Amino acid sequence: MLKDLISASRSYRSFDPAGVISREQLWDWVDCARLSPSSMNLQTLKFRLVYKPQECNALFKVTRWAGKIKDQTIPPVGHEPTAYVVLCADTRIVETAERFQKDVGICAQSIMLAATEAGFGGCMIGSFSPAKTQELLGLPVYLLPQLVLGLGKPDETVVLTDPAEDGSVTYYRNGGIHYVQKRKLKDLIVE
Ligand SMILES: Cc1cc2nc3c(=O)[nH]c(=O)nc-3n(C[C@H](O)[C@H](O)[C@H](O)COP(=O)(O)O)c2cc1C
Repeated sequence: MLKDLISASRSYRSFDPAGVISREQLWDWVDCARLSPSSMNLQTLKFRLVYKPQECNALFKVTRWAGKIKDQTIPPVGHEPTAYVVLCADTRIVETAERFQKDVGICAQSIMLAATEAGFGGCMIGSFSPAKTQELLGLPVYLLPQLVLGLGKPDETVVLTDPAEDGSVTYYRNGGIHYVQKRKLKDLIVE
């Protein structure tokens, strides 16, 4: 069921180093983004695949993970993603990437769901340096990085919970488990 796939597609931030992702798998997952809706059907995004260990290491260094958790190294050392997809705005198609941010989210979710279905997972990373990413990946000036997807074979447990008594929805870790507080459906629907 689609809801099961969406439920399984959590943000994972620790990965099995043996969980290698092939170039072919990344192509297949990006094909799901290609088939996704696109504002005005302009298809303004390009997808830089990162799977060579040296590039993965370099890209990891310009990403920021689980900013709210200060007392732990996340991902744990040696459990970093084994691949990435960098979603880039192609400014040859549109000059202003801002207008197409919704396409970024839609494509990112398509890729994450495809990865989950294939037994992998990952985390969307908005907290990264676009300039350093552009430089270290040797991207042409017309491709502006918008979002990074860190991917791999998750080796941690993520549990969804209700919001705290005070209504807070901050994610947290306890006993090695990552908890994510989701607001209740009745508090989201307006009718
Ligand atoms: C657009 C976007 C950007 C995000 N950026 C980051 C990020 O920079 N670092 C990080 O660790 N998580 C990032 N996340 C993951 C969120 O923290 C995560 O989705 C949230 O805690 C809920 O967990 P869940 O995805 O398992 O439901 C991002 C998520 C989205 C949708």
